[in-house]
Amino acid sequence: MCKINIAIDGPSGVGKSTIADFLAKKYGMVHLDTGAMYRCVSYYIYVNNVNYDDPIELEQALNQITIRFDGKKVFLNGEDVSDAIRTNDISMMAAKVSSYSAVRKKLVALQQDICAEKGYIVDGRDICSVVLPEAEVKIFMSASSDARAMRRYKEYIDKGIECDYEQLLNDINERDYQDSHRAISPLKKAEDAIEVDTSNMSIEQVVERLSEIIENR
Ligand code: DC
Repeated sequence: MCKINIAIDGPSGVGKSTIADFLAKKYGMVHLDTGAMYRCVSYYIYVNNVNYDDPIELEQALNQITIRFDGKKVFLNGEDVSDAIRTNDISMMAAKVSSYSAVRKKLVALQQDICAEKGYIVDGRDICSVVLPEAEVKIFMSASSDARAMRRYKEYIDKGIECDYEQLLNDINERDYQDSHRAISPLKKAEDAIEVDTSNMSIEQVVERLSEIIENR
């Protein structure tokens, strides 16, 4: 099973990472979270106040960045940024920064390099279409923005974090808009990807459905 790559695309908050983690464990594969890589670049830009509208400054910044994964942890230039890249500010910024071609070029090359040996479950927005068009399994996970906002709302409430449902819904809609309207590699289901609408499914049901797809490939 580990000599294949599995590509999973889908919008923000659809649960790609959670599901990819489950599947990676189940099939003895490695989960590559490409969103975390865009978040690392955004975090670097944010902390170092990089003017990313200046192509030279952006290129210089990109040349300074190394990203390394260690299990569930992600390191940016040796610093553990696993939690720091998950803030709302960085989420909103990553949606912008990921529309720059220099950023995508660097990260896509890195992702293709990592996956060359196979055995990866890769989640993102352009994995089925751009990063791994030859992946043995290609899946597009979808869910209504209401379902995604409600899941996030419950997650926050369970953790005792105060939040506003309408605000979460607005953020999801804004990120969907940015992800699907950018000029380069917009979020879109690849023609040959299998779509799974998870709006009314539990995590267990999604894992079961995706396992079926993987095993029947
Ligand atoms: O999946 P995520 O929310 O962690 O992704 C953060 C941002 O990065 C999101 O706005 C979309 C972008 N992204 C992308 O453009 N291409 C990918 N393969 C993965 C993420």
